[in-house]
Amino acid sequence: MNVGQYIEQLERRFAEAPLCYGHGTDNPVDEAAYLVFASLALDWDEYPAALLRELTVAEQEMLEQRSRQRLTDRVPTAYLVGTAWFAGYPFKSDRRALVPRSPIAELVQNRFEPLLAAEPQRILDLCCGGGCIGIAAALEFPGARVDLADLSVPALQLATENIHLHGLEGRVEVQQSDLFAGLLGRRYDLILCNPPYVSEEEVDNLPAEFHHEPRDGLISGETGLALPRQILAAAADYLSDRGILILEVGYSHPLLSERYPEVPFLWLEFEQGGEGVLMLTREQLLRYRDRF
Ligand SMILES: C[S@@+](CC[C@H](N)C(=O)[O-])C[C@H]1O[C@@H](n2cnc3c(N)ncnc32)[C@H](O)[C@@H]1O
Repeated sequence: MNVGQYIEQLERRFAEAPLCYGHGTDNPVDEAAYLVFASLALDWDEYPAALLRELTVAEQEMLEQRSRQRLTDRVPTAYLVGTAWFAGYPFKSDRRALVPRSPIAELVQNRFEPLLAAEPQRILDLCCGGGCIGIAAALEFPGARVDLADLSVPALQLATENIHLHGLEGRVEVQQSDLFAGLLGRRYDLILCNPPYVSEEEVDNLPAEFHHEPRDGLISGETGLALPRQILAAAADYLSDRGILILEVGYSHPLLSERYPEVPFLWLEFEQGGEGVLMLTREQLLRYRDRF
């Protein structure tokens, strides 16, 4: 069997199975190609010639084992192959942090235009997980210093490995912090944050793929708004005068708008899919901080 034939039969098996997409791809065709190309360390530059390459017996066995883990155990492909792509960059991905998939990737690729008044000098990725958002921002803004903060030590270890992967030691640093508690006195031009925002009740109903991810990366109190509210109340103290906060709340978006109808959240739009990401300036956060 060659690479192309393996991908074709895997596409069919994926399409027939009750898989949940959204951990890197959104359909069985791309998911099958991702699993096979990444498992064999094939470069997309080798497409389509690589499709004709014959698989060895050992390769077929390895692919079959991973395919079964995807189909039966519903393990996200990023964890099986150890790599996830975010904003066009590769990241090491494993169970220490959620699989990167935030729509903030598109904002990074567009360099946050037209939201920033000037090129950011200091950037914070709060609740950074494996560091994908902050590291991608560092790569887009080569003049910026970036802090990656998370409560989870394993997530920060993965983020550190990703800093090394991209050769960003010295410009990107990790900091263990319970939200802003470990960042006192620091000021940022841009705070990027994809915090946990799923309610305790919803988390148990999520598709099986999510249950391979760290629960602390998903759950945020009874309503899902516990952490976003604390971030909205405190962020102004950590922003420079013209700084902005970009905060993802996903499908908690309608609930947040309903709870705080007077707050002028700017809900950002995405061409590549996704929703529930807001922007507020420091001035707006100061004006409404008591409501949160
Ligand atoms: C939804 S994940 C986002 C990970 C990464 N930013 C991404 O987009 O893939 C949320 C992260 O918040 C972290 N977290 C949970 N509670 C926290 C807290 N109180 N302070 C800081 N980080 C926290 C979790 O460890 C997890 O890595």
